[in-house]
Amino acid sequence: MTTTIELTAIVGSLRKGSFHRILFEASASAAPPGFLIRESPVAYLPFFNADLEETGEPDSVSSFKASVDSAAGLLVFTPEYNGSIPAVTKNAIDWLTRPPGSAPITGKPVGVVAASPGRHTASGVRDHLATVMGINTNRLFDESLGLSSISRRVDGRVLHADARDELGDWLNRFCQFVLVGTQPSQGS
Ligand SMILES: Cc1cc2nc3c(=O)[nH]c(=O)nc-3n(C[C@H](O)[C@H](O)[C@H](O)COP(=O)(O)O)c2cc1C
Repeated sequence: MTTTIELTAIVGSLRKGSFHRILFEASASAAPPGFLIRESPVAYLPFFNADLEETGEPDSVSSFKASVDSAAGLLVFTPEYNGSIPAVTKNAIDWLTRPPGSAPITGKPVGVVAASPGRHTASGVRDHLATVMGINTNRLFDESLGLSSISRRVDGRVLHADARDELGDWLNRFCQFVLVGTQPSQGS
């Protein structure tokens, strides 16, 4: 019997035409063999508030945390806003870091994909997420994926072949990292 390894993804943009949603959809529909990629939606999460933890987390929070907890790895598709992490992405991650000791993010393999419409590769958000993840999981995939010129590499909701290949190659390496548990530079 073959087992399927389930990964989950958060998309840190609420925009209907979001390029990061397109990147998520392309990943989910071309997951490497043996892997399944689902979404853990973040749109209805409330802003983090410790009072909500005390009075009982809303269903949107507990189902979100359970969905990430049960996955073998987490993919974060996020834009860069003002050189850093957008509130939507950061709020979702903050929930995943709670409570200390049994947080869903602890020990979770995490991969980050960020794209920029311009010639930059969203290095600000990728660097800042590395700092955040460094505090919360020892299993961040060192090689984040930064895509430039994303607005010129999409037709409708379809990625151009070069972007699809770049994403697919990275995804293969991330899935290998989930399976083997070591960074490619350590493992090869
Ligand atoms: C408030 C705001 C700040 C932004 N700051 C940056 C930035 O620092 N670097 C960058 O590459 N793009 C920046 N952008 C452009 C976004 O990368 C672009 O809007 C992108 O399409 C957002 O991702 P989405 O298509 O998934 O919504 C910014 C956009 C907004 C709305």
